[in-house]
Amino acid sequence: MAAVMKPTEPTIDRSGDDSSENIPTNPTDNSTFREIVTSNLTRRGLMQGSMAVAAAGFLAPKPAHAGSNSALGDWFSRRPRRGSLLDFRGLTIEAATSQGGKTVTVSPDYEYDVLIPWGTPIKPGVPEYAGDPQTRPTAAEQENQIGIGHDGMWFYPINLPSLLRLESRFRRELPSWLRRFLLTSRSGVLAINHEFGRNSHVLGKSGPETLEDVRLSQAAHGVSCVEVKSNRRGKWKLRKRSGLNRRITVNTPVEFSGPVAHSHLLQNTAANEMRGTVNNCGSGPTPWGTYITCEENFNGYFGTPNGEGEFSGANDLQTAAYARYGFSTFGFGYFWQNHDPRFDLSNPDYANESNRFGWCVEIDPFNPHAKPVKRTAMGRFKHEAVAMSELRDGRVAAYMGDDQRGDYIYKFESKYPWRKAKAYGKSPLDEGKLYVGKFDDDGNADGTGMGTWIELTPTNPEIAAAGLTSIELVLTYARLAADAVGATKMDRPEWSTIGTSGQVFWTLTNNDRKDDGAGEVSESNPIFENSDGYIIETKDTSSTRFKWNMFSISRNTRGTEPEEDPQLLAEDLPYAAYTPPADGGENVFTDPDAAYADPFGRLYIGTDGGQPDGLQDQLTVFDTRTGEYKRLLMGVNNDEITGITFTPDFGTLFTNTQHPGDGNPELTNFPAADDGVTIPRDCTLVVRRKYRSPMGLSLPASR
Ligand code: FEO
Ligand code: CA
Ligand code: CA
Repeated sequence: MAAVMKPTEPTIDRSGDDSSENIPTNPTDNSTFREIVTSNLTRRGLMQGSMAVAAAGFLAPKPAHAGSNSALGDWFSRRPRRGSLLDFRGLTIEAATSQGGKTVTVSPDYEYDVLIPWGTPIKPGVPEYAGDPQTRPTAAEQENQIGIGHDGMWFYPINLPSLLRLESRFRRELPSWLRRFLLTSRSGVLAINHEFGRNSHVLGKSGPETLEDVRLSQAAHGVSCVEVKSNRRGKWKLRKRSGLNRRITVNTPVEFSGPVAHSHLLQNTAANEMRGTVNNCGSGPTPWGTYITCEENFNGYFGTPNGEGEFSGANDLQTAAYARYGFSTFGFGYFWQNHDPRFDLSNPDYANESNRFGWCVEIDPFNPHAKPVKRTAMGRFKHEAVAMSELRDGRVAAYMGDDQRGDYIYKFESKYPWRKAKAYGKSPLDEGKLYVGKFDDDGNADGTGMGTWIELTPTNPEIAAAGLTSIELVLTYARLAADAVGATKMDRPEWSTIGTSGQVFWTLTNNDRKDDGAGEVSESNPIFENSDGYIIETKDTSSTRFKWNMFSISRNTRGTEPEEDPQLLAEDLPYAAYTPPADGGENVFTDPDAAYADPFGRLYIGTDGGQPDGLQDQLTVFDTRTGEYKRLLMGVNNDEITGITFTPDFGTLFTNTQHPGDGNPELTNFPAADDGVTIPRDCTLVVRRKYRSPMGLSLPASR
């Protein structure tokens, strides 16, 4: 008899729970890692997307001047390979906090506009929801409006498909300079995740009372693909009449592909159609021009009616998986299960519905009629984000974090070169190997070391002994398989992104619960009460081995030594010890989460967690060659900065403020003016460098 899951308290543990303390910073030295030269990655193959590769070959941009088009050229330096990559004035704490967190603040060298706030219609004839506290959209309206919870996103130049067709004919990528000239930076499809919106924000009440309420909540979640276009002054807007605009929600028909696609693990006795994606957190582009959206906290949308009663798995393995993936009777308090039986864990007709979530989902942003495809070979866990590299032999590697305290980092490697697979009508993501990361204990506490990618396969005796005797079981319950092989517990793996030498930057946002068993202190996770997070670099030396280096320890950016530090293993792990910041703490940040490494050596970090010194979540930029970093932008009260993508010319940055004010109009009304009433709305921020006049004065670009 399978064990029974007991009711648990409702939790909405989403947007960072770290307390803000009053502090500053300092970057860590990463020179050791840069000496690593062995790699199976080609430089050309550093695919953070085709556009990024195009821009890697970008020569010195022309000086911007009034009346030119929107391409302001390179962001921070006209000669990015020489000198500092951060040729801009950082946003000071004083300037950042001057607005009281009511509105977004940005470096004095930049300006921003708001694009596609929650409730923006994506089709003609659909009304806008503008934050009126007395109303909310209907479910039907929301299905044709931009959703809430803006998160991972990617900009696809509108002419990318024709360029990819051309390259397909040549069976190779065009030179980067040619790509630069061919790809437009004036229009494209923005694919964007809508991770979540709490009931109080979306519904204006604590829980759904009807199926209509549930449908509204469901329609606010998911993904949008919308065509956006800029005018000559760099003002961007959504093209409502574009045939490419679409919403994807938890009710959109989807397909499954790969080893689990036809497994009984995905079948219900209700025989309901395969539908939907949910809690779409980070994302990543593929070299072939599609979008991968990642399903993270899918467990939170399942439960039992009113959180009452019990549920259990059909067998011991499913029951163990329910516990391991964090299912509970209340879920995160969305209570969809009260009116939609798919999400009722106690309904035997939908016993395997939850197995349909927790995957990477591929979306073609240029084909609004194509179903999203769940790529099961990439495993099922709480997928935070994905970063893809092209290997020397043309295969792809996808690096993926599983965001939970004490969970793991993963890698998928395709079996076939992606061009060959596509030529045969196959997806490169349907066959390959899934690995989990294990960091070695090398006995030398210097903040660098080696690690192993352990393949998750039922032929591994440890995995088979855990009852995972088929590849379907291994992939569906990937966490259990990873447990069986002793993967390294990490401090909440969030985003991954590929650097200029093929290294992977991983954000580990925080983990202050090691005393609850969520991991243990190790060289790669060196702080016991890690409330501030790290950034780690790894670099594969083969399919199954990697080197690693601690790139940045956020607590070391604080200007005052943390009080009451019961754990710091400073003697054993000197690299983790507090170091006084050279700048007095002006560049303090904590809780790194969203990440994007550009082709020039910059690393953009969006944060998610209580920031010190009165700051809100922020976008910070590193020069990865020197460790120097600066604050570019700060969000509003209680928001999170996430999603980082550029136009091919790197003249325009898109980023997001997520859950501004947590929906509370007393905290902020952004993007509306401060009135204390209007419901704040998630939105994309379009950030551009101001024009510079010949006299060196900063002038607004778009007025
Ligand atoms: Fe969706 Fe782990 O942030
Ligand atoms: Ca070491
Ligand atoms: Ca995140």
